Amino acid sequence: MKELDIRGDRPYKMLIEPGLLPEAGKYISHAPGGSRAFVLTDSTVASLPSMPLATIYRSLTEAGYQVSTCQLPAGESSKNPTAYLDVVSMMADRGLQPTDILVALGGGMIGDLGGFAAATYMRGIKCVQIPTTFLAAVDSSVGGKTAIDLPQGKNLIGAFWEPSLVLCDPDLLLTLPATVFMDGCAETIKYGILKDPEIIALLRQALEKIPERSAKTSDSADNATDLLCQVIARAVTTKEFYVHGDVTDKGKRGFLNLGHLLGHAIEAWSCFSLSHGQSVAMGMVLEARGCAALGLTSSDTADEIRELVNDFGFAIDPPCTVQDILPYLVHDKRIRNNSIGLIVPDSIGNCHMEPYPADELEKFARLGFGEQ
Ligand SMILES: NC(=O)c1ccc[n+]([C@@H]2O[C@H](COP(=O)([O-])OP(=O)(O)OC[C@H]3O[C@@H](n4cnc5c(N)ncnc54)[C@H](O)[C@@H]3O)[C@@H](O)[C@H]2O)c1
Repeated sequence: MKELDIRGDRPYKMLIEPGLLPEAGKYISHAPGGSRAFVLTDSTVASLPSMPLATIYRSLTEAGYQVSTCQLPAGESSKNPTAYLDVVSMMADRGLQPTDILVALGGGMIGDLGGFAAATYMRGIKCVQIPTTFLAAVDSSVGGKTAIDLPQGKNLIGAFWEPSLVLCDPDLLLTLPATVFMDGCAETIKYGILKDPEIIALLRQALEKIPERSAKTSDSADNATDLLCQVIARAVTTKEFYVHGDVTDKGKRGFLNLGHLLGHAIEAWSCFSLSHGQSVAMGMVLEARGCAALGLTSSDTADEIRELVNDFGFAIDPPCTVQDILPYLVHDKRIRNNSIGLIVPDSIGNCHMEPYPADELEKFARLGFGEQ
């Protein structure tokens, strides 16, 4: 089993192991404790043939918890204030006390909403994250950002609330549709460009072994989940490096926004029809080209990133113009005092942050898009 220590004011562990889910109750009762467990999940996860909801229910019950469950319809549209109020009301109906726990079993949508419910119910109860998507495993389940969306924009209501424990069973990831899986790949490639080039080769090997892509043997599934364990552990180690000491995102956590400046703007322009992973992947390519045009990085590095992202099967040419994304770009949440930190790749595995005038973002985007 891989056991990661996530440092901070309230340190916690992430445990990663194929077949971990049936043991979850044991680990949860040791660390966060409590006597009632409220398990939040979505309709897709609840109806998977591998029955993760029934498994966690049984495991928590055997560990002595009084368990209640709540299912939200799958999809980002459930990450809204009404669903949030339904969840916390149900927690109150079930008599959850400040010492009890919320278990978020799902992807980033459930993790974000569940984390926010845990952060705010009775001014904060403990939360256990059990990621079921690759993106949640490598990214959203750690770091403590929790949120719900408003019609005006994504993640506009939220809190920093770190989980008390993260349990990752890579067997759960084998049922993911390819596009959902690729969202996690984009974030993993990001970690590779930021700090850990070797993760990219490991990710390639894992993708080759995932049963959908090769012969469906249990051997290949075993190999895939072993490789996924390594990828997830390295990814989270990199994320933890940037979050440690900057949970509230005032400094080095900003490195994690590589590809997100132009990527977010393209995603928002597409009304979220382009996936987050696809948008970030494209963003990394365009930002590297913009940095090269500004003389901040070499054109060789920008070309290498373009090839890398292309090789993983992501589209690299933007489906829109700079004019289209401008309204989203100028409202980037990271602009402070008319300045934004550009994440500049010096080489694959090495980046630095460069202050850049926010009123020149249009120019940066034009350079990235190859427009004059
Ligand atoms: N808190 C953070 O730091 C952070 C970071 C990145 C993204 N996010 C948030 O994460 C969300 C996106 O997360 P996501 O990509 O996991 O989306 P998601 O949670 O909506 O899951 C995507 C789809 O996969 C399905 N699914 C989940 N597990 C499955 C499984 N094991 N097998 C088959 N299908 C499964 C879900 O039901 C859903 O339909 C967004 O709301 C985003 O804002 C948060």
